[in-house]
Amino acid sequence: MRKILIANFKMNTTPSAFKSYAMTLATKSKNCKNEVIVCPPYTHLFMARDMLNGTNVAYGAQNISEEEKGEITGEISASMIKDLGANYVILGHSERRARYKENDKIINKKIKTALANGLKVVLCVGENLQCRTNKQGCTFVRNQLEEDLRGIYENELEGVIVAYEPVWCVGTGKNASNKDISKMVETIRKEISYMYSEKAGKSLNVVYGGAVSLANYKKIMDNEDLNGLLVGNACLDVDNFAIMCKENY
Ligand code: PGA
Repeated sequence: MRKILIANFKMNTTPSAFKSYAMTLATKSKNCKNEVIVCPPYTHLFMARDMLNGTNVAYGAQNISEEEKGEITGEISASMIKDLGANYVILGHSERRARYKENDKIINKKIKTALANGLKVVLCVGENLQCRTNKQGCTFVRNQLEEDLRGIYENELEGVIVAYEPVWCVGTGKNASNKDISKMVETIRKEISYMYSEKAGKSLNVVYGGAVSLANYKKIMDNEDLNGLLVGNACLDVDNFAIMCKENY
């Protein structure tokens, strides 16, 4: 199965350093059939446009404002990143939910703004350790999906990739087991079937993120329930990320 590989740079690297990263990744993934998407900081998107257009590597941002434009100092709109050729945006990342108090209502508004501007959304969902310990992970993630996708139509789901990112794994170096991942992916597909249709549940693209590394990516990627990976810290080494991107193809 063709997989989706998404690189989340978080707040790392510089635009100048990204130039050689983009060049290397584009060269290394030239004949690769997997879908490769890089999401560097906003400041790198100009460089992404210059280096990645016409290659196998798509690019996107890690956030957008929920508003289209206006008096909001320091914010970046969907149309601004779209204008730079970005086709994707990561929304609902647990780091933003926690640090900037982005709640489901705001995330829902951001998703609507992104889709209205022709951006595809990588929607991150996932339970924290306390939730997991209390065996409430599935309920928590189902609620996130219901709130985050409220008012989104079934035909718009083509533009949504759901990233299962357990908060107890993200940035910790500790990944979830394939059993844990499969259980949650099944929950996600069931919830989407319940909210929309069985067809929507089956065809939804679901990726896993949380401490994916060169040492564990193969095992996770081989999981047939999954459509791909969202790679954080391990994507910063372009050679390593390129190896992941070429897997199976
Ligand atoms: P990590 O991050 O791979 O560094 O755990 C994943 C993410 O935040 O998307």
